[in-house]
Amino acid sequence: MNKITIAIDGFSSTGKSTVAKQLAKYLGYVYVDSGAMYRAVTYYAMQNGLISKDDFNVEALIYQLDNINITFKFNEKLGFAEVYLNNENIERAIRTLEVSSFVSKVAAISEVRQKLVEQQQKMGQDKGVVMDGRDIGTVVFKDAELKLYMIASAEKRAVRRFDELIERGDQVLYEDVLKNVQERDHIDSTREDSPLVKAADAIEIDNSDMTLDEQFDKILRLAKMTIEDCE
Ligand code: CDP
Ligand code: CDP
Repeated sequence: MNKITIAIDGFSSTGKSTVAKQLAKYLGYVYVDSGAMYRAVTYYAMQNGLISKDDFNVEALIYQLDNINITFKFNEKLGFAEVYLNNENIERAIRTLEVSSFVSKVAAISEVRQKLVEQQQKMGQDKGVVMDGRDIGTVVFKDAELKLYMIASAEKRAVRRFDELIERGDQVLYEDVLKNVQERDHIDSTREDSPLVKAADAIEIDNSDMTLDEQFDKILRLAKMTIEDCE
């Protein structure tokens, strides 16, 4: 059976990574969380004192980009690949609201994007990949056979992300999570380099009122149809 490339873009907490992991598992494809790579660079900048609430040394980060080695290792127990920064497992550390508060600024830097896009394209060169992010269907895999653009209301998305953060034990306020979601929506969709936009050939899915099962059923149907069309 022919393997295809599935590109999933959309705003934060629209369920991209959940459905991407489900699809990859079902189809036997590789799942790549491109957002984790931008979070990894942000985490590096935080750990090395290059970014804080008051200061962001963009030049130093660009200068140090070669020191940043991002890898993924499949975790059998979890059923997906976790992200590593210079051999340190940072899968959990990059999901904090603090990392989320800086990541869109880091992701707006062209030099950062160039490095990560190159790595993402290599990871997907043999197809059989499901990648989620903001520019996958528009920049990384412009020729992807299936492109999805996921949307949901900001309030619904903030509730989803708030619940996740509380569940993992982080002390956060709903208002701060909503503010972060809205800020990132704005920065991600208005930046100059590779803004979040719907690719002309992407299928839009509003999952504000869809359960995870409904969302998966709908998207799996689309994936199966696309794979059949490519036979
Ligand atoms: O999980 P969530 O949707 O909140 O975010 P993410 O997918 O982990 O992405 C974090 C941030 O990385 C986004 O807000 C974007 O600023 C950036 N990003 C990007 O610019 N391009 C991508 N392909 C993926 C993420
Ligand atoms: O990857 P992205 O940031 O787009 O979203 P996600 O991490 O897949 O989903 C964020 C949270 O929303 C997860 O806890 C999902 O279980 C939840 N979600 C949901 O409850 N219903 C949906 N239709 C989609 C996501």
